[in-house]
Amino acid sequence: MSDLDKINSIFNAKIDSVKTKEDLQNIKTEFFGKNGKITQQFKTLGSLEANDRKDFASNLNKVKDNLSNQIEKKFLEIENAEINDKLKNEKVDVTLPVRPFQRGKIHPVSQVIDEISSIFSEIGFSVAEGPDVETEYNNFTALNTPEDHPARDMHDTFYLEKNKKLLLRTHTSPVQIRAMLSGKPPFKIIVPGRTYRCDSDQTHAPMFHQLEGLHIDKSITMGHLKGCLDYFIKEFFEVKNVKMRFRPSHFPFTEPSAEVDIGYRIENEKIVIGEGNKWLEVLGCGMVHPNVLKNAKVNPNKYRGFAFGMGIDRLAMLKYGINDLRAFFETDYRWLNHFGFDPLDVPTNYRGLSK
Ligand code: PHE
Repeated sequence: MSDLDKINSIFNAKIDSVKTKEDLQNIKTEFFGKNGKITQQFKTLGSLEANDRKDFASNLNKVKDNLSNQIEKKFLEIENAEINDKLKNEKVDVTLPVRPFQRGKIHPVSQVIDEISSIFSEIGFSVAEGPDVETEYNNFTALNTPEDHPARDMHDTFYLEKNKKLLLRTHTSPVQIRAMLSGKPPFKIIVPGRTYRCDSDQTHAPMFHQLEGLHIDKSITMGHLKGCLDYFIKEFFEVKNVKMRFRPSHFPFTEPSAEVDIGYRIENEKIVIGEGNKWLEVLGCGMVHPNVLKNAKVNPNKYRGFAFGMGIDRLAMLKYGINDLRAFFETDYRWLNHFGFDPLDVPTNYRGLSK
């Protein structure tokens, strides 16, 4: 038997028992690797007589082609078998009963943010965001609150640096500046987000959530602000009538400024929003101060508008009867299980917000 015949028969004996890609790779190395049986034969070509060499080379090439074809064929076979195997094993039996599984709940604050976004999107507001770590300029200076302004002290700011250039934003109002600087008027946005103040008791947490609103266009008036808030409060609390009261107030970044109270009463130890003789403060608002527009590169002679800011946690507490703010941030699973919402039940205006 010639060397080539021998190689052929060794190969044939081996290739039939190949089951995996790994086996195949081993055979490939054994025959075509650096010191492979076929490779070795090619190395002998140089030492042959010219005549012998021609014949041998042509035979050798035939054997080589034959072997590599078989390897290629085997490879496809294995690959097909693997795919079929996978299809067989990954089959889903849709008749099996559903396995019980532990379901997470949506935190009331997240739920309320979704509800609020849905309500405002109905009247053309889009959602904007900004970072929790803000510059002192965006948080105060650009909002018409210079360094010596008493409002700065009222904010109990967490500064991140000694030189006070960076801080944890004390309200969502700096996003007004960011939004206006990064676009062209008109602006119609709401901004839900985390805010921080160095303060903590039953109704104050060092981290809490605010919702900012900003609507800037050519002829926006305080009437639009009232209409917008009236619509929002009714939709949010899912009631037909809401008594609302605008109280004169002061914010450096709005002029005039107001605080808004809504009417409520207590019935069977539960709070009923909308009617009654008691007042509850829910938000601060006003017409955006011309200085703020200027700082945000908006021409105050052409554009004006309103802004408002409210505490999201408080709204969530009122709507869902939660009486201690601190529970929001304690990550107690039992609490979340009780007050949380179904993750598959996303609030929308047309389908209902909370039911
Ligand atoms: N940023 C104010 C606060 O945190 C609320 C507010 C926003 C008031 C926008 C007026 C306009 O108290």
